[in-house]
Amino acid sequence: MSFYITTPIYYVNAEPHLGHAYATIAADALARFHRARGEDTYFLTGTDEHGQKIEQAAQKQNRPPLEWADAVVAKYRATFEHLNIANDDFIRTTEDRHKQFVGGLWERIVERGDIYEGAYEGHYCVGCEAFYTEAQLDDDKRCPTHQTKAEWVSEPSYFFRMSKYQDALLKHFEDNPGFVRPENYRNEIVSFIKSGLRDLSVSRTTFQWGIPVPGNETHVIYVWMDALSNYMSALGGVDAELYNRFWPAAHHLIGKDILRFHAVYWPCFLLAAGLPLPQSIFVTGWWTVRGSKISKSMPATRVDPNELSDDIGVDALRYFLLREVPLGLDGDFNYEGLVGRYNADLANDLGNLLNRTLTMTGKFCAGQVPERAADIPAPKHTEIDAVARQAIADTTRHLADWAPSRALEAVWTLVRAGNRYVDGCQPWKLAKTAGDNPEHRAELDHCMRTALEALACAARLVAPVMPGKAAELLRQLGVSDERGAELVGAWPEPDRFGQELAAGTAIARGDVLFPRFDKDQQLALLRKWAPDSVPTESAGQSGDKRGDKGKKADKQSKKQGKGQGQGKTKAKDSEKPGLVPFADVARLDLRVAEIRSAEPVPKTSKLLRLSVDLGPMGTRQVVAGIAGRYKAEEVVGKKVILVANLEPATIRGVESQGMILAAGDRDILGLSTIDESVPNGTKVR
Ligand code: MSP
Repeated sequence: MSFYITTPIYYVNAEPHLGHAYATIAADALARFHRARGEDTYFLTGTDEHGQKIEQAAQKQNRPPLEWADAVVAKYRATFEHLNIANDDFIRTTEDRHKQFVGGLWERIVERGDIYEGAYEGHYCVGCEAFYTEAQLDDDKRCPTHQTKAEWVSEPSYFFRMSKYQDALLKHFEDNPGFVRPENYRNEIVSFIKSGLRDLSVSRTTFQWGIPVPGNETHVIYVWMDALSNYMSALGGVDAELYNRFWPAAHHLIGKDILRFHAVYWPCFLLAAGLPLPQSIFVTGWWTVRGSKISKSMPATRVDPNELSDDIGVDALRYFLLREVPLGLDGDFNYEGLVGRYNADLANDLGNLLNRTLTMTGKFCAGQVPERAADIPAPKHTEIDAVARQAIADTTRHLADWAPSRALEAVWTLVRAGNRYVDGCQPWKLAKTAGDNPEHRAELDHCMRTALEALACAARLVAPVMPGKAAELLRQLGVSDERGAELVGAWPEPDRFGQELAAGTAIARGDVLFPRFDKDQQLALLRKWAPDSVPTESAGQSGDKRGDKGKKADKQSKKQGKGQGQGKTKAKDSEKPGLVPFADVARLDLRVAEIRSAEPVPKTSKLLRLSVDLGPMGTRQVVAGIAGRYKAEEVVGKKVILVANLEPATIRGVESQGMILAAGDRDILGLSTIDESVPNGTKVR
């Protein structure tokens, strides 16, 4: 089976930021997973270097466009290398192989009669490199993505007969329900197509920096037609060896701002050229800072992935980005959240299991991987095996379904169960009697070996996301580098749990895998990363002591009606009775959840058992004490706010995986409902 995954190619008008790192890390993790499953995998990233936007950026720097592009491309390459991105190719649209392909594609479409000459007059946003109708801009003619004024353009242009492909494209969407995911984006684009496709201007004459139109060099090809073609030019073009291997097994991972280009323009170009369409398009949300999109044009929101990963570790950053926000949803980035998740999941859960298992293997098993007893009766031993098998199956399913956040959640069910298992076995007690009691010796060995195996299994499951730490973890378990590469090079099978390590090998304890950040270190990091958001000792109780960066971001988010002014929270608030610091609030994972079904919990008068849909985060069962106010059928279809990271609890024999927010104290008066248009799973702040 072939799996070809692509990232968007990045504009070289400025250096990479966290948003660019995100798409590339996500694609890298998915590519690593598919490779480990033995699929013929190809992973492409690259840079988008033509067009007015790049020409203008170079002019600002007084540099020829290609020279400018070379400098920025070097930064992208270095960043991706630093982030341990294992791409198979890096395409630049200024390369000959690409330019030739684009010229050829143009000619193919001309031969089919779908490009004609005309003149374009209308609005153009250089930031988006896109044409806009009056209705798509605001009253001041600003574009919805950049909030910058669109230019009025009037020039001769070639047009592509996009209108001709409306029906064929709609049929493709009908026949291929998974063509665009998540579903809300599919629905959005289908309504856009149904509203009518117009012919598209596909050449420009008012600047030079682009690929000339074959046969008429006074025009350059529209930069999106140029850019989208990278996905094929990088394969060597139609009928090249790579093309035959990987097209149309292509999956484009893209941000939501470039959906229309990928889900409408690109398929229409391909239909016109008589070429097969890619298999799927997966749309990711945006990382924001205090509600504003992280972007090159908003320095106040810029987060440098290089600096961040230097401080917290490359793998920890990769983990955070993929664990914190389900692929497909927006996420608001804050440093407290990053350190909080690092400490909780990596330093505590995983770090702790590794640390205690290695210590006890050292003490109780002479530092060697012990044997697993073939048949140990106590249920705790069979239970942990079942948890591990389930974790392998769930992680596999979620990664195959483009849900890395859920996949990591599944790995952590094993990590946490591993810690509970060690607690339950009490190896320190068994060790006291193991010398005289062969059964205790066998059980002690079995327990330590199972904990070591759980760690080896977790290492393999997290390897697509944290390749460096996975290798280091296996090394500490005594696995040779060669065997380690073999283990992460192949995807674990549920039925083989417990058989990966070799009895008798010496464990090799090394540096702490994820050192915990204590309070002082956390403060030091926050001071470094976001000096304006951390109060200094001398900061008073009133007024905004933050610098321009924090204030600018707040101003922007207020403009968008999203700000909560959390930057103004002073650490001192935590000392006031009844107040909590912002960091505590940030720990709550509040999400939009749609109630899909509801039924009374038997033998209770107030409880309803709900099934709630969290979009890309899946479905949960929640027990809610709202039956005094609502009948089951009244709440179905409502979108409410769910506390999604609440520890599960069993209420009257029914497991509840979260809590919905409702108004009222003893008696419920109403639900925390939210607009229907907000996608399920969206974070609530
Ligand atoms: N050059 C075009 C893509 C051409 S693909 C044939 C482009 N480049 S970009 O550099 O502006 O953006 C590249 C990708 O980064 C887009 O998918 C965009 O959504 C993503 N991101 C940019 N900022 C982002 C965030 N703040 N958060 C997440 N991703 C975001 O568009």
